[in-house]
Amino acid sequence: MIIAVGSDHAGLELKGQLGKYLADKGHQVQDLGTYTTDSVDYPDYGEKVGSVVAAGEAELGICVCGTGIGISIAANKVCGIRAAVVHDVTSARLAKAHNNANVVCFGERMITFEVSRQAIDAFLESSFEGGRHIKRIEKLNNLDKLREGNE
Ligand code: RB5
Repeated sequence: MIIAVGSDHAGLELKGQLGKYLADKGHQVQDLGTYTTDSVDYPDYGEKVGSVVAAGEAELGICVCGTGIGISIAANKVCGIRAAVVHDVTSARLAKAHNNANVVCFGERMITFEVSRQAIDAFLESSFEGGRHIKRIEKLNNLDKLREGNE
C-alpha cells in the first residue's frame, strides 16, 4: 500500500517510527515532512497529506502532531478526506469499520509508539462495514460538494 505520512515538529518522532514500521512491513511510505525539530505549523502538513490522499497518489494518510487534533482538522479541510484521530486499537478499528477513514491521526504527546503501532495494524486489518454506514459517508461527501460549490 502507498501510505503518505506527515507531521509537525511535535509529531516528528512518532511519524518517523510509524513510517519505518510500515516500510519494514513492505508498504511504500511517502514522507511529506516535516523533517526537522524546527517549529512548523500543523495545517501545512495536514493539507499536504490530505491533498496526496484526495488525489489518489496514496491510499492512506497518517498524520501526527502533538495531540493529533490540529493536524486532523487541517486534513479534514481537504475535500474527500475523512481524517480520524485514534487513541487505541478500538478507535482505530471503528475509524475503518464505520467511517472508512482515509487519514489516521495520532498525537505524539498522547500515545506511545507501541499503542499507535497496534492501532495502525488494527486499522489496516479492519474492513469498512458498509450497510447503514454507506449513507452516512454519502452525507459527508455531500458536505464536500456544498463546500466546493462555495469556492
Ligand atoms: C504544537 O505545539 C501543537 O500545538 C500541535 O502539535 C498540535 O498538538 C495541535 O493540535
